[in-house]
Amino acid sequence: MLTETLPVRYSQTELVELMIPSYANFGGKIHGGILLSIMDKVAYACASKHAGNYCVTVTVDNVEFLSPVEVGDLVRFAASVNYVGKTSLVVGIRVTAENIKTGEQRHTNTSYFTMVAKDDEGKPTLVPKLLLETEEEIRRFLEAMKRREYKKEYVSLFYSAKNELSIQDGISSLLEERCVLDSRLLR
Ligand SMILES: CC(C)(COP(=O)(O)OP(=O)(O)OC[C@H]1O[C@@H](n2cnc3c(N)ncnc32)[C@H](O)[C@@H]1OP(=O)(O)O)[C@@H](O)C(=O)NCCC(=O)NCCS
Repeated sequence: MLTETLPVRYSQTELVELMIPSYANFGGKIHGGILLSIMDKVAYACASKHAGNYCVTVTVDNVEFLSPVEVGDLVRFAASVNYVGKTSLVVGIRVTAENIKTGEQRHTNTSYFTMVAKDDEGKPTLVPKLLLETEEEIRRFLEAMKRREYKKEYVSLFYSAKNELSIQDGISSLLEERCVLDSRLLR
């Protein structure tokens, strides 16, 4: 049953996980892929709760790990629906890591997952509208609209630049880069 409108708080989802040694990379820090996998799970739970249907991940924006996560940290993943379209939703996830001994908390990243709700036949299906109850919720909705608009512009700019790219003309711009051209290419 599709409810017409649901508040952000209806689907807000939080997961807290202890970073165990098996999550670490060879440098002793937590592997970024582990965090991404947990974030995807939380985004999925949050989006599906709002949609009343299972969702799939379409794109992930702003994946930048600003500060490393250590083994033994308690990591909090806070997710809420920031924006809804017709069949798509944007879930924002704020990740914070806490050192259990000192209580110090660090914001490690905030990322935005675009998810699409699917019906039983696997087709995109309408999601409820979002009831915005605070100024922060309005700000997040507006920011998601801007992000979508700029991404569209970026994608169209990038693909036209990519289509116009000439290897012969571009070679000179490689001189300052840390790459070396095989001598056979210069003949
Ligand atoms: C994403 C997917 C549902 C789009 O299907 P489609 O038949 O092209 O559907 P539509 O063009 O109607 O798009 C559906 C919604 O997705 C959005 N969408 C599609 N591509 C998008 C993209 N690259 N970025 C952001 N949103 C996108 C559309 O804007 C639309 O949103 P709206 O209904 O809110 O306006 C389909 O490509 C798919 O199922 N992909 C696989 C996703 C998956 O399985 N992920 C798990 C990881 S493997």
